[in-house]
Amino acid sequence: MYDFRIAADDKAELYRQLTQAAEALTAGEPDAIANMANVAALLWEALPDLNWAGFYRNVGGELVLGPFQGRPACIRIPFGKGVCGVAAASLEPQCVADVLAFPGHIACDAASRSELVVPVLHEGVLLGVLDLDSPSPARFDDADVAGCVELVQRLSERFAGVA
Ligand code: SME
Repeated sequence: MYDFRIAADDKAELYRQLTQAAEALTAGEPDAIANMANVAALLWEALPDLNWAGFYRNVGGELVLGPFQGRPACIRIPFGKGVCGVAAASLEPQCVADVLAFPGHIACDAASRSELVVPVLHEGVLLGVLDLDSPSPARFDDADVAGCVELVQRLSERFAGVA
């Protein structure tokens, strides 16, 4: 049984603990899907006010649904489409305060109001994206972006399946 106690007053500390727990959870495991599944579960458990947390994988230049927590979601997203597709095409994190105002946003769960999508790269290759959705507008800020960017950078080998 894994029982990580993640609690912090500020987001930087929260993400530090989260990343540490994610590294411990995936240590020595070469299966990328298993690692994404456990990290999605960890994020879901530790981050408040989410309605979706998970991964889309880059499969031949298209985003395909990966391990996640939350409601069933759209399976395939072309690069450049929706928040996830824009993150994949631009290789830049997308922090969207109001998804209803984002052109081309893909509404997998009608409850979503804000979204953070971070590209996952390993050795310059795009493996996919990490996607967090919230039912609250403007749920994500610069500290969430920095925390998630750091987390996926530190874990990239585990998501590439070479750890
Ligand atoms: N809203 C995303 C699609 C994925 S779901 O949120 C899980 C988008 O616009 O790319």
